[in-house]
Amino acid sequence: MQAYIAVKHLHITFALLSGSFFILRGIWRMRDSAMLQRRWVRIAPHLIDTILLVSALTLVFWSGQYPFVQGWLTAKVLALVAYIVLGTIALKRGRTAGIRMTAFVAALAVFAYMLAVALSRQVLPF
Ligand code: HEM
Repeated sequence: MQAYIAVKHLHITFALLSGSFFILRGIWRMRDSAMLQRRWVRIAPHLIDTILLVSALTLVFWSGQYPFVQGWLTAKVLALVAYIVLGTIALKRGRTAGIRMTAFVAALAVFAYMLAVALSRQVLPF
């Protein structure tokens, strides 16, 4: 039980880290900052997201609540895919500043949705 709570805190911490670091990289992208080329800035998101996902999978198995069984977990997984796709458009693939900005705002909205789903355990938390 204690281990479960510890992993849950790890999961929440890395979820917030992932979102905060995404906002920071979005700002750097808008300013064409050289920070984005730094080695640690390129590596950190992979580390953060790996810990986020491993902790998520641990919680899934330990709690016996599975995506595609529990609606709210399905919503989270699908929203995570949307967040990743929108994130790469916002930071890399978007050709114009307008496209990147729109994708950035949409990715943040999806992130907020994931938090609301996690806290309410409802597919439609609003
Ligand atoms: C595929 C991705 C994910 C899976 C499978 C997953 C799975 C889970 C599971 C099983 C729990 C434990 C619920 C419980 O103890 O009953 C949990 C909690 C939580 N998750 Fe995730 N998660 C994922 C991604 C995310 C992301 C991206 C965020 C943030 C945007 C997030 C935020 C949270 C929060 C805040 C909680 C704690 C909710 C509470 O107070 O009970 N998760 N997650």
